[in-house]
Amino acid sequence: MPVVTVVGGQWGDEGKGKIVDLLAEKADMVVRFSGGDNAGHTVINPHGEFKLHLIPAGIFYSDVTSIIGNGVAVNPASLLQELDSLKGHFNINNLYISDRAHIIMPYHTLLDRLQEERRGGRAIGTTLKGIGPVFTDKTARLGIRACDLLDNEYFKARLADVLEYKNAIITGVYRAEPLSFDEIYEQYCHYGELLSPYIREIGPLLDDAIAANKAILMEGAQGTLLDPDFGTYPYVTSSSPIAANSALGSGTSIHEIDHVAGVFKAYSTRVGGGPMPTELHDETGELIRNQAHEYGATTGRPRRCGWFDAVAGRFSARINGFDSIIMTRLDILDILPAIKICTGYEVDGKKLDYFPTSSNVLAQCQPVYEELPGWLTPTSDISTFDNLPPNAKRYIKRIEELLVCPASIISVGASRNQTIIVKQVWKS
Ligand code: IMO
Ligand code: MG
Repeated sequence: MPVVTVVGGQWGDEGKGKIVDLLAEKADMVVRFSGGDNAGHTVINPHGEFKLHLIPAGIFYSDVTSIIGNGVAVNPASLLQELDSLKGHFNINNLYISDRAHIIMPYHTLLDRLQEERRGGRAIGTTLKGIGPVFTDKTARLGIRACDLLDNEYFKARLADVLEYKNAIITGVYRAEPLSFDEIYEQYCHYGELLSPYIREIGPLLDDAIAANKAILMEGAQGTLLDPDFGTYPYVTSSSPIAANSALGSGTSIHEIDHVAGVFKAYSTRVGGGPMPTELHDETGELIRNQAHEYGATTGRPRRCGWFDAVAGRFSARINGFDSIIMTRLDILDILPAIKICTGYEVDGKKLDYFPTSSNVLAQCQPVYEELPGWLTPTSDISTFDNLPPNAKRYIKRIEELLVCPASIISVGASRNQTIIVKQVWKS
């Protein structure tokens, strides 16, 4: 059995939670490899509705091993809360946290807020979970890792050193109150104790699973257009959501990945700041938001809604090397008489058929649209591609053509059974 990587093709919130929950049925292991509790993966399955932020969406199957990889930043308080909500209902003994994962500390969340306040009108609109600061510390070699929480003496010295520097910034640059060493030290030693059964070197688990030909699912967080290298910089997140990072963020060889699937909503959404050429500021945007209840799972913020952007989509397919696309929320478009797809941009009267590097240029891009007829037929109960209304098939086919990638799964509702399998993602 292969390794399948599932990532967001747009700006996050594509419905990765539902898809991973669905694909996990045939998986032996599900691995989160990036992001932190900025992710909000909504899963609706026969057990109920769940919002996962850190725990992989394999947790609902008792025999699936769930791994939080080294590429994830872990907020212990948030993880413990999530564990509590699942305890007693699901098998949480099959969960492991990489001892290499970086830990979100109180100064990370504090600095996230202070930095956003300083940016004022240029704020990124982060989730305020400390993501930027924790990944900054990782590369600045100032991080605290899960393994450090298991070694109190080392942790004490490390925290003292790092906190002295952080407090100098908090008080000197931001004129805010310094954080207490004693409080943080005590609290995080306690977290270390509570999380110690889960923290370990995950390499051998992955090696054994690969050697035994097990089915491994890599669960992406965020979306390609939030990638620090390839997204709409600086309006991006701080770890790489793209498929290549499923190798790096878990310690798996790139040779092992057999299939990369990109999840796309049938339209576009974005939460937070930054350019979004197809954003709709009219009643159609409002209609999509209300129909789809487009409000953030992590922050509750209303999501910006717009038409499908095939220029951004093609770029995303290329950067990730998608073997297939998974289209979610097709049913939301059921009520629209006409549907637009952005097939190019125009800047200063010039045509652009690629996704520009500069966010400043992207912000000036006017979308060039192609209009397709809607299908005005409910699709939520349809279970085969052939039974979809002809105009819905035409819409999907056109997106496949523009992204140069075939669809494998079409989702027409939040439940597991509201899913059309076009072709298998798992190699048999
Ligand atoms: P899932 O996994 C949508 C966005 C934030 C902000 C930017 C930076 O549910 O798809 P950060 O807190 O990461 O520093 O914020 O990234 N963002 C997301 N948007 N879905 C997510 O995750 C996101 N995670 C971060 O809104 O614009
Ligand atoms: Mg989300």
